[in-house]
Amino acid sequence: MRLILACDLKGGIGYQNKLPWHIPLDLSRFKNLTKNGVVVMGRKTWESLPKKPLPNRVNVVISNTLKDIDSAIILPNIGRLKSADDVWVIGGNSLVDSVWEFIHEIHLTLVLSEHICDTFIDLEKIKNNFIQVSGSGFGDHSYEVYKRNV
Ligand SMILES: NC(=O)c1ccc[n+]([C@@H]2O[C@H](COP(=O)([O-])OP(=O)(O)OC[C@H]3O[C@@H](n4cnc5c(N)ncnc54)[C@H](OP(=O)(O)O)[C@@H]3O)[C@@H](O)[C@H]2O)c1
Repeated sequence: MRLILACDLKGGIGYQNKLPWHIPLDLSRFKNLTKNGVVVMGRKTWESLPKKPLPNRVNVVISNTLKDIDSAIILPNIGRLKSADDVWVIGGNSLVDSVWEFIHEIHLTLVLSEHICDTFIDLEKIKNNFIQVSGSGFGDHSYEVYKRNV
């Protein structure tokens, strides 16, 4: 599974179930990378989406509380998706923690400023288990790709 996330310098990813920033270039990169693919998210991330589902993608929501809906596939756990290379995990942190061992590649947008956040990813865990294979700067953010250090 691949992980795609944006975080600030302290690993902050969300505040009050919203993205703490608005970076149009990052949103269009996210769209281009994930289009026509399968995106897997935690229930709170699904609830945070301003427009549901994310268009032109199969939306999978991991939840034990959501009822069946037409716009997404609800699964109680990650199940067989864990061995699918081409699936995108898109957060939040609770889901990332529970599928961490199955993630082989991380596309990380590092927002180069600090924001008030109430949800964080562990940046140290990424640095200790993955090798950075590319990185580009875009003024207010950088875009980095990591592969698991095997
Ligand atoms: N910056 C970014 O790139 C980015 C990306 C995504 C999200 N976010 C932000 O992150 C925040 C949400 O993240 P979060 O960590 O609080 O929540 P989350 O991971 O999106 O959702 C948590 C919920 O997902 C379900 N879930 C997660 N792992 C599960 C598992 N292994 N098995 C079964 N169900 C599982 C549970 O739902 P039930 O309680 O329904 O069972 C759990 O309560 C929001 O602020 C959002 O805006 C940021």
